[in-house]
Amino acid sequence: EKGGHDYFMLKEIEEQPEALANTLRGHFADGRIVLDEQRLADQDLRDVDKVFVVACGTAYHSGLVAKYAIEHWTRLPVECELASEFRYRDPVLDRDTLVVAISQSGETADTLEAVRHAREQKARVLAICNTNGAQIPRESDAVLYTHAGPEIGVAATKTFLAQIAANYLVGLALAQARGTKYPDEVAREFRELEAMPAAVQHALGTVDQVRALGRELSDSKAVLFLGRHVGFPVALEGALKLKELAYMHAEGFAAGELKHGPIALIEDQLPVVVVMPSPKGRAVLHSKLLSNISEIQARGARTIVIAEEGDDTVKPFADHLIEVPAVPTLLQPLVSSVPLQVLAAEIARSRGYDVDKPRNLAKSVTVE
Ligand code: F6R
Repeated sequence: EKGGHDYFMLKEIEEQPEALANTLRGHFADGRIVLDEQRLADQDLRDVDKVFVVACGTAYHSGLVAKYAIEHWTRLPVECELASEFRYRDPVLDRDTLVVAISQSGETADTLEAVRHAREQKARVLAICNTNGAQIPRESDAVLYTHAGPEIGVAATKTFLAQIAANYLVGLALAQARGTKYPDEVAREFRELEAMPAAVQHALGTVDQVRALGRELSDSKAVLFLGRHVGFPVALEGALKLKELAYMHAEGFAAGELKHGPIALIEDQLPVVVVMPSPKGRAVLHSKLLSNISEIQARGARTIVIAEEGDDTVKPFADHLIEVPAVPTLLQPLVSSVPLQVLAAEIARSRGYDVDKPRNLAKSVTVE
């Protein structure tokens, strides 16, 4: 049942290229992005003047990633918010607001209530969901299914990557409808997305290396995760996976925040995972992170660096270097998340925990 794997989650991690291909399949035809059958009209997409992304947990992290892409492609302001916070304040919503509700299960109580609140305020709601006919898509104006296949492991893995891809499809559909990208640019972005299943497959080449590292780190008291730009939500997700599976103290930070407090946590041999951006993308981000790593290394941290293959500049700062394939900056979370999933699972297994059934957690959270 685990397909020859020590735990089911590893099977789902390895299914990610296929899950991603399934999310993208059928969404580009005759030179245009097409969303699912139950979708918003082009006119509705043109009228949108503000986007809210609401979700919980891992789905929320996929939304944080999406914010960078949707704002970049559409020039619309995008706010990404935890559903449990969104619903209890008084967000400014009207009929030109697009609310994207992301939920693997489609049953998460807080996300469902956020959808209800948004619809009462006349906002248009698009659900991104992995479960056919679930409550959240039923109560939304439109739905985009991720088609990642059923996810058995309680910790979300393949549905996280699928959510990121689906969010990107929404961003491209908005850019296309609003004309903020030319059709050939939209087509090029879609082709880059289509190349991602192969890139994720390539990133899976790190599994054995990362499992060995996980065994080495299993006695650590805590692990910190640092990133910038789209690497920041990847850091948050890496920390969440480690908390929920290995019951270890883990925190993700925006690397720029280090000096504002978290650097006080750095002590000798503390493992710190750093999600590096591509040296070929935004050079300034890369150099800022390099100086962050050198600062924590100087304070004795054990640095675990996720970097683009061939990025020699990080080598002097990396006690452990995990190389992932070169992809466009906005798509990096799809490859850099993979080793972090494996790391959390393997640390958990080494500590003797059931990776597929973490304590106190349920696959779908239908109570608030
Ligand atoms: C973490 C995890 C949870 C879910 C969250 C939202 O691995 O699985 O954080 O992401 O409970 O669930 P959905 O996406 O079903 O709304």
